[in-house]
Amino acid sequence: MSNLMMSGDFRECLSRIPDLDPELFLESCKRPLPEGFRINTIKSSEENVLKRLRQKGFVFEKIPWARYGYILRDGGELGKTLEHMAGLIYLQGPVSMAPVEVLDPKPGEIVLDLCAAPGSKSTQIAQLLENMGVLVANDVNHERIKALSSNLQRFGVINCVITLTDGRKYPRFARGFFDKVLIDVPCSSLGIISKNWGIAKSWSLGMVERLSRIQYQLLEAGFNCLKPGGVLVYSTCTLTVEENELVIDRLLKNYKNAKLEDIRLPSLKSRNGVVEWSGRRLNPDLEKAVRIMPYDNWAEGFFIAKIIKEVGGNEVNGYR
Ligand SMILES: C[S@@+](CC[C@H](N)C(=O)[O-])C[C@H]1O[C@@H](n2cnc3c(N)ncnc32)[C@H](O)[C@@H]1O
Repeated sequence: MSNLMMSGDFRECLSRIPDLDPELFLESCKRPLPEGFRINTIKSSEENVLKRLRQKGFVFEKIPWARYGYILRDGGELGKTLEHMAGLIYLQGPVSMAPVEVLDPKPGEIVLDLCAAPGSKSTQIAQLLENMGVLVANDVNHERIKALSSNLQRFGVINCVITLTDGRKYPRFARGFFDKVLIDVPCSSLGIISKNWGIAKSWSLGMVERLSRIQYQLLEAGFNCLKPGGVLVYSTCTLTVEENELVIDRLLKNYKNAKLEDIRLPSLKSRNGVVEWSGRRLNPDLEKAVRIMPYDNWAEGFFIAKIIKEVGGNEVNGYR
């Protein structure tokens, strides 16, 4: 990336990201992200679809951290294949498959995807539910809901309810209702910058602070929608502490029954969440969260935290 294309704010942004190697980061920004895909086992067997793709000359590798996930190595554009149009595969970045693996939905569970469009993770949740149980997929954006709806239909999902509302309002009608909740929030997208160079030009601390406030409100809403004993996964495709650890730290301060859990993702290179920031000590359990730099796996950068809502205890702790 040319220096001229970075705003002063963006230089400042890079210097604020813990452990970031700026040279490697800028190199990762120049590389196209690897194409990943998931086999849709709702519609066909994994073996059958792999055989079809091999016969068409596609070359791919299994992704160790995501069931049914593959990285495309050669063979052309998967997006133009019949398999894609018929919903036998879903194109999705390899690291983007990790948050749902951490959530680990099981057949029969009731799951909320609060910020769901265009549906990469909703289709993945539906697949792991094996069309049993219920998936509620919500988004606030009408245009993006159309893509979500068409992707779920193409994928053959029959156990999904789509809602169009501000996720922050969800506890008004679904408090304590869900076994599992995914909060894949809108973010400053530093982990997928090679897809959109505009991020580097328009980045500002004000934007990050604004996003951080919405992210906390969405996280709190999602947490309030969880049953006691339920599991919540919070994810972003960005690297700032304001949008990641500080959001989780605030929830842990406000809700005594929110506990971070360890995350295991085989062969995915990652580092622990930070527990100190700008002279401030954060909750030590934040080291259980994972931050994934784009150059760790030469794929997307992500942050993932897994939170359990403990049974019993005081829900609200301190300020709101
Ligand atoms: C990172 S994207 C989600 C990507 C999606 N989970 C996937 O894997 O395909 C964030 C989404 O949050 C939605 N969003 C933003 N503000 C929201 C709000 N207040 N309530 C619900 N959704 C919101 C955006 O419209 C956007 O679709």
